[in-house]
Amino acid sequence: MTSQKISRVGVVGAGQMGAGIAEVCARAQVDVLVHEATRDRLAAGRSRILGSLDRGVSSGKLTERERDQATARLRFTCDLGDFADRDLVVESVVEDEAVKVEIFTRLDEVVADPAAILASNTSSIPIRTLGAATRDPARVIGLHFFNPVPVLPLVELVTIPETAPGVAARAESFAHDVLGKQVIYSADRSGFVVNALLVPYLLSAIRMVESGFATVEDVDKAMVLGCAHPMGPLKLADMVGLDTIKVIAERMNEEFGESLYAPPALLTQMVESGRLGKKAGRGFYEYERNGAGKAV
Ligand code: 3HC
Repeated sequence: MTSQKISRVGVVGAGQMGAGIAEVCARAQVDVLVHEATRDRLAAGRSRILGSLDRGVSSGKLTERERDQATARLRFTCDLGDFADRDLVVESVVEDEAVKVEIFTRLDEVVADPAAILASNTSSIPIRTLGAATRDPARVIGLHFFNPVPVLPLVELVTIPETAPGVAARAESFAHDVLGKQVIYSADRSGFVVNALLVPYLLSAIRMVESGFATVEDVDKAMVLGCAHPMGPLKLADMVGLDTIKVIAERMNEEFGESLYAPPALLTQMVESGRLGKKAGRGFYEYERNGAGKAV
């Protein structure tokens, strides 16, 4: 191994997860290069990260100096060729196997240090498929964060049989010691540990609403007040994104062949009509600019 320390991170994709990962790395004093495919999406990702850092200042969690230092560590590009010097790249693009495979093939060509780690933040696409898209799967792992990334302390770490000894330990020590996250290990199975438990729960809540068993607000109230969850399943589904949940459910249904993973018709209809959740301003709830949700 030529370089052990991870000090230059690349993040591919600046949606809600990628932006959160980039922010957490920059706040941990790591040099971060963020990639998006188009200038518009790059600008939106940049605003998302800088807006979140500003909210950190207004809520007293960051000083202005810390925000400015984090901002200075962030750079943005539309060219994956700029990732040549990265020690770790975390891919966090849309949950689409073909898109991720193409990115891994390209990262494998571009990222020069053979000891650099190529990680995916996928929820449901096999890490072995992404490894197979590279010439050197020894440096490929899954590194799965949770939304909102700056708040939730968990990272799931997934290795494949080809992962080189030492790669998981370096990634774990980066996630734990540098980013301050807690790490658990999962087998390379669709959904890993968290989504394999969470997604059937969210789908059950959607089925309850679909069948008229209970209203959106009452299902959410039940789990917040009855089980002390921080938010109910339908509000959480809106936050994660209904399109993302549908794709994860489809992948898990494909892998495990169990009906509890099958997307309910209501979920499919909502996705088809653009009710994708909070990011679309409309899902099980309607959202105003301040992010507050009202059941529809
Ligand atoms: N970025 C940074 N900080 C944020 C934030 C964000 N996007 N959203 C909330 N916060 C911070 C707030 O500033 C606040 O910090 P403070 O306590 O220091 O003041 C704290 O989080 C609590 O926020 P709020 O008071 O605004 O609101 P809540 O108490 O309702 O918390 C929540 C919001 C953190 C989202 C909480 O409801 C929660 O943890 N919900 C569950 C989220 C969850 O289950 N996520 C996992 C989804 S699955 C996943 O991501 C995997 C993927 O593969 C699908």
